[in-house]
Amino acid sequence: MIEFEDVTKQYPDGTVAVDTLSLRIPSNEITVFVGPSGCGKTTSLRMINRTIERTSGRISIDGEDINSKDAVALRRGIGYVIQHAGLFPHKTVVDNIATVPKLLGWDKRRARTTAMELLERVGLDVKLAERYPAQLSGGQQQRVGVARALAADPPIMLMDEPFSAVDPIVRNQLQEELLRLQRDIGKTIVFVTHDIDEAIKLGDNVAILRVGGKLAQLAPPSELLANPVDDFVRDFVGRDRGYRALTFVHPDELPVKPLPAELVLDDAGAPVGWRTDHEVQPVNAVYKQGDSLRAALDAVLTSPNGWGVCIDANGRAVGIVDQVIVAEALRS
Ligand SMILES: Nc1ncnc2c1ncn2[C@@H]1O[C@H](COP(=O)(O)OP(=O)(O)O)[C@@H](O)[C@H]1O
Ligand SMILES: [Mg+2]
Repeated sequence: MIEFEDVTKQYPDGTVAVDTLSLRIPSNEITVFVGPSGCGKTTSLRMINRTIERTSGRISIDGEDINSKDAVALRRGIGYVIQHAGLFPHKTVVDNIATVPKLLGWDKRRARTTAMELLERVGLDVKLAERYPAQLSGGQQQRVGVARALAADPPIMLMDEPFSAVDPIVRNQLQEELLRLQRDIGKTIVFVTHDIDEAIKLGDNVAILRVGGKLAQLAPPSELLANPVDDFVRDFVGRDRGYRALTFVHPDELPVKPLPAELVLDDAGAPVGWRTDHEVQPVNAVYKQGDSLRAALDAVLTSPNGWGVCIDANGRAVGIVDQVIVAEALRS
């Protein structure tokens, strides 16, 4: 656990970037710091690895004050990922990833083997190993940045807006991959973003900060959406929070209506499309029993006729859901 106790950072010009911040960051989970520009996210994050020194208060890791350790030793246990990946332009991908292991004195072969494994782990083709960063796309560079931060297997990862500079589609892929990776590695991740949707998607816990570096609310996403503590948080999480909150409602089994004749199935019973007078329209999104109510509503809202197709674990269509079914499930 990382703990902030009354932590304040005042820059030499007098700016108070972080003001008596107290919060706990549980181990092996993702905690997201989110808030408007200038609210002290980066400063808070960088005080953890002491690339910025706090002015007062205490920051501890597993009970031990981080100032009681040598800063270099401290940073060995903390991976750091930033926007634009911060890769070394003159080093190949594999050498970038192996940077820290080499600094730690690992022999070359072991550093390289680890780097190649990590390359695959973050979803990159090993063929990219000998390329230089400029020869990669933005999304690929970010993946290399994550692999590099993981190379020495640090228990803690700090990530400062790592996905903010890539387009929404790639950003979405990177988010999914981070969640997948985290299921395997279970690091203590502190992730900074200004994007509340990203925070809600990635965070086990989300800390919303306001300008001046004050904590507005720290809670799991479902709690933030359901019970914002004040108007600032309510505005920040947005007006459509009712819709987003559906993400966290997982009915065991939605009552479904029987399959209508218009639904075209393939031989295996999977939905193919909706038959209309002159064509078959694709089934855009399906709802898998057990998924969230938001997924059910998405299936309904993207369907050409307002019927969302419900499938079982084998992909076979078992019934349809509509807005009424979703609304009733929400009420119960
Ligand atoms: N080196 C610095 N000197 C003076 N003020 C700074 C410095 N770095 C950041 N600040 C100020 O501290 C506040 C918080 O900055 P920062 O932590 O970078 O915010 P965020 O990452 O949330 O956008 C801002 O008002 C910013 O202008
Ligand atoms: Mg910042």
